[in-house]
Amino acid sequence: MFLDVLLLFAILITLFIVVTVVAHIWIAVPFIPTPKHVGEEMLHFAGLQGSETLYDLGAGDARLLIYAKRKYPSITAIGVEFVPTVWLLGKVRIWISRQTVELRLKDVLKQDVSDADCIFLYLIPSLLTKLEKKFDAELKPGTKVVSYAFQFPHKKPVQEKSVPWLTGQRKLRMYVW
Ligand SMILES: C[S@@+](CC[C@H](N)C(=O)[O-])C[C@H]1O[C@@H](n2cnc3c(N)ncnc32)[C@H](O)[C@@H]1O
Repeated sequence: MFLDVLLLFAILITLFIVVTVVAHIWIAVPFIPTPKHVGEEMLHFAGLQGSETLYDLGAGDARLLIYAKRKYPSITAIGVEFVPTVWLLGKVRIWISRQTVELRLKDVLKQDVSDADCIFLYLIPSLLTKLEKKFDAELKPGTKVVSYAFQFPHKKPVQEKSVPWLTGQRKLRMYVW
């Protein structure tokens, strides 16, 4: 009996690892969470108010949305994550936090963001190139987009700030569509 449970556990862990690795190879963007101090700066840039809708596209374990919802309880917080195991981790984290955060298992390119007031991004340049076109077509004028580390190819940021990263610095950029 003990060996059966152990075997089941080993199979589940292996499955978890295989799904995570295969999905990450497919999308080519690893799950690297934004450090807390950067998340706080992103929230400061976003200047959220009232019942605004915040998306984190490529939300990982939804930590930024949980911080945001704790600080601004009246906002709507929606995350979109492609990797099922990371999404599951996010669902558990949201459940533990007891915050009302929605986390969708989906490709960001298939998510309608026309209701967004603010969007957080920590994604690679090739994806930002595709998102720039999508945002041009979909976003309401005045939508705020805060991108950590990477920039859009054509859009100019309205504000920039360097934030510490390992031994160097990385940029946080705020765009207004
Ligand atoms: C660098 S992590 C950032 C996680 C989170 N936004 C944060 O800042 O802590 C990027 C996340 O985007 C997800 N991702 C990458 N491409 C995606 C896509 N096309 N659709 C949905 N999620 C995607 C990855 O699985 C990963 O969890």
